[in-house]
Amino acid sequence: MRAVVHDRYGSPEVLRIEEVPVPAPGPGQVLVEIAATSVNLSDWEGLTGSPAYARLGGVRAPRRRVLGSDIAGRVTQVGTGVTGFRPGDEVYGDNLALLGGFAEYAVAAESALAPKPAALTFAQASTLPQAGAIALQGTVGADAGRRVLINGAGGGSGSFAVQLAKRLGAQVTGVDNAHKLDFMRSLGADDVLDHRREDFTRHGPYDLVLDLVAYRSVFAYRRALARGGRYRCAGGTVRALLRVLTVGAVAARVTGRRMGVLVVRQGPASFTRLADLCVAGEVTIHVDRTYALDDVAEALASVGEGRALGKVVVELRR
Ligand SMILES: NC(=O)c1ccc[n+]([C@@H]2O[C@H](COP(=O)([O-])OP(=O)(O)OC[C@H]3O[C@@H](n4cnc5c(N)ncnc54)[C@H](OP(=O)(O)O)[C@@H]3O)[C@@H](O)[C@H]2O)c1
Repeated sequence: MRAVVHDRYGSPEVLRIEEVPVPAPGPGQVLVEIAATSVNLSDWEGLTGSPAYARLGGVRAPRRRVLGSDIAGRVTQVGTGVTGFRPGDEVYGDNLALLGGFAEYAVAAESALAPKPAALTFAQASTLPQAGAIALQGTVGADAGRRVLINGAGGGSGSFAVQLAKRLGAQVTGVDNAHKLDFMRSLGADDVLDHRREDFTRHGPYDLVLDLVAYRSVFAYRRALARGGRYRCAGGTVRALLRVLTVGAVAARVTGRRMGVLVVRQGPASFTRLADLCVAGEVTIHVDRTYALDDVAEALASVGEGRALGKVVVELRR
């Protein structure tokens, strides 16, 4: 089968297309013929090996040669002990543990997958698992009237988070680069800020801050919070995340605020609710562009370099 492989961390130039054997599903696993795999910032991080948490399990060289975690496709083979799926079933899920989505076939744990809703295309379904889990868990508490700020709101998880927070009745401020301001408004954001020109920690205060790209000092983040407010970060530099977990947690508590790192629960229960909302027409999926398998490097760069509005998808078949 054709797969996009890399043997070292680096820029998209380290990626190449290779003929590799089709993987065999082990116990509790299924083989999926990939129809579409969406790109997440975590794929870019796995390609470049940065931030440092992207090297967990593979400090010098990548542990998995084929990236791609948010897969959608058809089951072609099942391993021993699999009871939930049969060959021919249409599935989707976040295969973060095994990756392999930028290839014609990938092996995934049965427990990572859900049946694909018939009303969604494979490309649409592939956008939901990882970004949806972050957005659903990151917007808990974005209730009616709450002032919510989402940093990185024009990207994959952010585009869902803005819509979910608005749906709950929150007053939403979206922060991203200048190119994404109109896009964030179109998602429903009440206010938008260009992170290259404005410092959101000098705006507010906010009752909830969901930060998808944390890199500032915890004292700056605390300044943006109203009393009783909560800051959660899902990604960013390791230094910023460690500071949030340590100094930030304490500094926030003594002033009646909360700060922490959002460790996202995975598995179908964490994203199928968003799929239901998309099928019902209550949340819109924004696919900026689809790419062929040959163009995975370009697809990854468009996300890693911040050009994509919403989600980017690598589509192999429909
Ligand atoms: N905590 C967990 O359990 C967990 C699980 C999976 C993934 N994650 C993490 O969650 C994060 C979310 O990723 P995603 O896929 O939604 O990313 P994405 O689609 O790339 O969106 C991130 C957005 O943030 C913008 N941005 C970058 N730097 C910024 C800054 N300083 N201020 C404001 N906006 C900025 C980017 O545009 P520009 O680059 O142009 O600025 C981009 O629009 C990733 O870091 C990923 O590793 C966490």
